[in-house]
Amino acid sequence: MQHVYSGKVREIYADGDDLLLVASDRVSVYDIVLPTPIPDKGKLLTQLSVWWFGQLADIVPNHLVSATDVPAEFEGRAVRCRRLEMVPFECIARGYLAGSGLKEYQATGAISGVVLPRGLVEGSRLPEPVFTPTTKVSEGHDAPATFEDVAAGVGLSTATRLRDLTLEVYRRGASRAAENGIIVADTKLEFGVSPDGELTLADEVLTSDSSRFWPAAEWEPGRPQHAYDKQFVRDWATGSGWDRNPPAPPIPAEVVEATRARYVAAYEKITGLPWRG
Ligand SMILES: Nc1ncnc2c1ncn2[C@@H]1O[C@H](COP(=O)(O)OP(=O)(O)O)[C@@H](O)[C@H]1O
Ligand SMILES: [Mg+2]
Repeated sequence: MQHVYSGKVREIYADGDDLLLVASDRVSVYDIVLPTPIPDKGKLLTQLSVWWFGQLADIVPNHLVSATDVPAEFEGRAVRCRRLEMVPFECIARGYLAGSGLKEYQATGAISGVVLPRGLVEGSRLPEPVFTPTTKVSEGHDAPATFEDVAAGVGLSTATRLRDLTLEVYRRGASRAAENGIIVADTKLEFGVSPDGELTLADEVLTSDSSRFWPAAEWEPGRPQHAYDKQFVRDWATGSGWDRNPPAPPIPAEVVEATRARYVAAYEKITGLPWRG
């Protein structure tokens, strides 16, 4: 096994034609890794992704080869997957207004070129889920992109398929999560192309790092929403006075514990399974 890449959260190894994606307990905010890990986070995200790959298998092929055929030291936090040629865009679907989408809407009335009705507020449900891609860069911050940008990068037919698949995965994810009282406000997907040319769902899927999860019972447009995701860490980081440049400050123990509890709650509520990590 050969180490090929350190992501913000994952270590990636090559094993023959396969990749091993090993999720650490690192947490990143504004694309910067914080110095304090969140215990069990890597396992929670890995197991949630594996569960979703199963739920979505009829919509789109995925990169998963095995969640168990991994070295013992990485058990639970690693997946063996097919190595893909990654699409250089992050495929984001939004069903509600939050985060950078909210900012863009407030400034322009549109997100990624999709014009939205007037009068929406923070947390509003959109009339329909929208595809709001960004570029995917390995250093620095991803930049907003329009559907036309994606089409210019990968061709119109692939761009159309990416948009359709992203919205379909979002719809399925949102409706499954809604059964258990969770709103999926938005989610980020990554796709790759397999050696035989097939568009394939990769990376992590519908996790607390790649999505905004809100308790449906507490949803109230017009204010920030309670979240089962890393928004809690973002809020703490923003309130700490940190200027978003490295190095990031250590996370206090009570914020670590509350964040871990949110990751566990997201896993348990969405899958309906108890966390036995
Ligand atoms: N099947 C795959 N083939 C190749 N690369 C992949 C595959 N699945 C995920 N990746 C890439 O592996 C990396 C995952 O590590 P992560 O820590 O999440 O990185 P990042 O800091 O880029 O988010 C991402 O760059 C992602 O695009
Ligand atoms: Mg990532």
